[in-house]
Amino acid sequence: MSIKFNPENLTFKLDTCSTSYVIQVNRYGYLMHNYYGALVSDDALEYLNFAQRHSSHFPRVEMENKEIPFFSKSVHRMEYSTNGCGDFRASALSILRENGTADTDIKYVSHKIYAGKPAIEGQPATYAADDEATTLEITCIDSVSLAEVTLFYTVFENLAAMTRHAIVKNTSDKVMNIQRVLSACVDFHDARDMDFIHLYGSWSKERRFERMPLIHGAQSVASKMGCSSHMHNPFIALASHDATEDFGDVYGFNLVYTGNFLASADMDPDGGARVLIGINPEGFNWRLEPGEYFVAPEAVMVYSNAGLGGMSRTFHKLYRNNLCRGEWKNKRRPILVNNWEATYFNFDEEKLFDIAKTASELGIEMLVMDDGWFGDRNSDRSALGDWFVNEEKLKGGLGKLVERVNGIGLKFGIWFEPEMVSRDSELFRAHPDWAIQTPGRPMSIARHQYVLDMARADVRDYLFDCIKKVMDSANIAYIKWDFNRSLTEVGSATVGAERQSEVFHRYVLGLYELLERLLTAYPHLLLEGCASGGGRFDPAWLYYSPQFWTSDDTDAIERLEIQYGTSMCYPTSAVGAHVSACPNHQTARISPLKTRGNVAMAGTFGYELDLTKLTDEEKEIVKAQCDEYRKYYDVINYGELYRLISPWKDRTRCAWSYVSEDKREALVTYVVMRSSIYDLHYIRLKGLDPEKRYLCEQTGVVLSGDTLMNAGLCLHERLRDFDSSVYHFTAID
Ligand code: GLA
Repeated sequence: MSIKFNPENLTFKLDTCSTSYVIQVNRYGYLMHNYYGALVSDDALEYLNFAQRHSSHFPRVEMENKEIPFFSKSVHRMEYSTNGCGDFRASALSILRENGTADTDIKYVSHKIYAGKPAIEGQPATYAADDEATTLEITCIDSVSLAEVTLFYTVFENLAAMTRHAIVKNTSDKVMNIQRVLSACVDFHDARDMDFIHLYGSWSKERRFERMPLIHGAQSVASKMGCSSHMHNPFIALASHDATEDFGDVYGFNLVYTGNFLASADMDPDGGARVLIGINPEGFNWRLEPGEYFVAPEAVMVYSNAGLGGMSRTFHKLYRNNLCRGEWKNKRRPILVNNWEATYFNFDEEKLFDIAKTASELGIEMLVMDDGWFGDRNSDRSALGDWFVNEEKLKGGLGKLVERVNGIGLKFGIWFEPEMVSRDSELFRAHPDWAIQTPGRPMSIARHQYVLDMARADVRDYLFDCIKKVMDSANIAYIKWDFNRSLTEVGSATVGAERQSEVFHRYVLGLYELLERLLTAYPHLLLEGCASGGGRFDPAWLYYSPQFWTSDDTDAIERLEIQYGTSMCYPTSAVGAHVSACPNHQTARISPLKTRGNVAMAGTFGYELDLTKLTDEEKEIVKAQCDEYRKYYDVINYGELYRLISPWKDRTRCAWSYVSEDKREALVTYVVMRSSIYDLHYIRLKGLDPEKRYLCEQTGVVLSGDTLMNAGLCLHERLRDFDSSVYHFTAID
């Protein structure tokens, strides 16, 4: 059993294969956080929580009118911090009582330990078989408000990962309001030598990696856009200053949620730090009637003492095996061609069929028809919501086109943006009240569209029926589910005034319900998430769609940075990546087709250009790329990622590799961003077996793993700007 409870000192010890997490109920009934890090023995570790920094100014707890010496909630490490009762650091929980006060204080009541992992009602979460994970539930109560709080912890046996969430139940006979309920809180004893890492961005520049020393006060990233957003990803890490890609302490935190989030690290004046991650409390309030409960989303925590690379590989494995699900989890995904950058809105069935025909000759396996196939949709100004086929464009209807495409051996995929409605649409004219809005205030418009109220069951029913009609009318293998604007003026007709601050979260729950319904009705469907590119690339989406469109920026050189940042916690098998036309439509950069292919192969591979316009020579390259992707599919998608040269290091080169779990195969990709005569063309590989000899397919040279990792791989070719090379190794021993 990897979770142990010691009744003598009331200590819980939660172990994974390489980490320990220790909680203790102190003698006054409070849950204390004693330790999180590399695996340790079964000691209680309470000395770690013995506060040296007492000050008479910090409130102490009183019990039966007696002051308890040496226990002050603001200096001790609390397991799940609460508001207003002496812990002045940021709190995980704040409950507003009917009398208007919001002080909250919880104490241990009981616990349960069991094999496996419970599902989280109505929400995406990691899952595990009974022999893969163990769960601890600790129930606490606030004896004044009668809010009952259950903290859930699951540890995975074979991964350095654990998950957490919380349920708050109103066991009183009065209404209460949850003002804050974060999913995880971790107090670090000494964070003075730690850095704060996060992924920031914007449209077409998603998930830029940033690292800076933790400073006193709060450092946080958040979203209040109604989605996880381009601006910040729901991921942060604390890493020791000396942690590199391969060595050192790193703690990663990621939220399985696709709505407003907060992830913060707050260093106190004495150098301790508190990490919080969960639903963004700004604009949030949840009313609990007597007997009602609220379920906070899941937070994932990964610890690595093998640097950032170790952390990422744990996230990747966890998400591939215990978050993605369904038929496509471990099935080879089709190589696709998407017509967006090929035609934008300007296409008809003949144009699409021509692309499909060329695709089939080149070994591409699926045609995806993007935006523009429905209603009166000839630009982004109209028709979202009118999910019926535009027969002027697709003469003979969708069924006929899909049959023709299937007839030449390709699967067929289609684009939807279900959560949206154009001002100029039949749907909006019929149901203006279905758009999210607040009384009396004009609605903000973005990309000429409004957001539908996903909290409404009638809206979800309408959308499900529309998608169902399309799905049932043709053999559709794939849907790209897009979302191209954020939420503003958020209100819903589904709830009264006292519940309007719940609407952001109710929207997300409604979205989950619709996605679940769709996947239950169509279990063979491959769903790809998208949000103006990668604006919702988060773990919640990976539960529904095993792949996500990473960015609207398809320029291979820009993608190096975007995909590198994305790889911090998301697996390659989730990274939608396509080869696009040249000059690139976003940056006008001219890069070789070879490099566009090599970069897109670090993801779920496809094309996004007019294949019919390729020269014969380019067609041969595309054919070879498709073969290569199929050949290397397993090592790319199921192997372990080792980042070799960061694109930010000196902005001249970038390299990464995949190594199969048995270390018998490796694939190295090297891209030159700016060539220089002084470049040293050696890369030290990682993750190989030092004792095995490897044959390089491209050079025919045999070298041992230790030579490749210590002396390095010599890059023979002289590469120009934006050129790239790939080396494939197979063990011969
Ligand atoms: C978004 C997506 C693109 C494309 C367009 C269509 O921007 O990210 O891939 O589907 O919408 O309007």
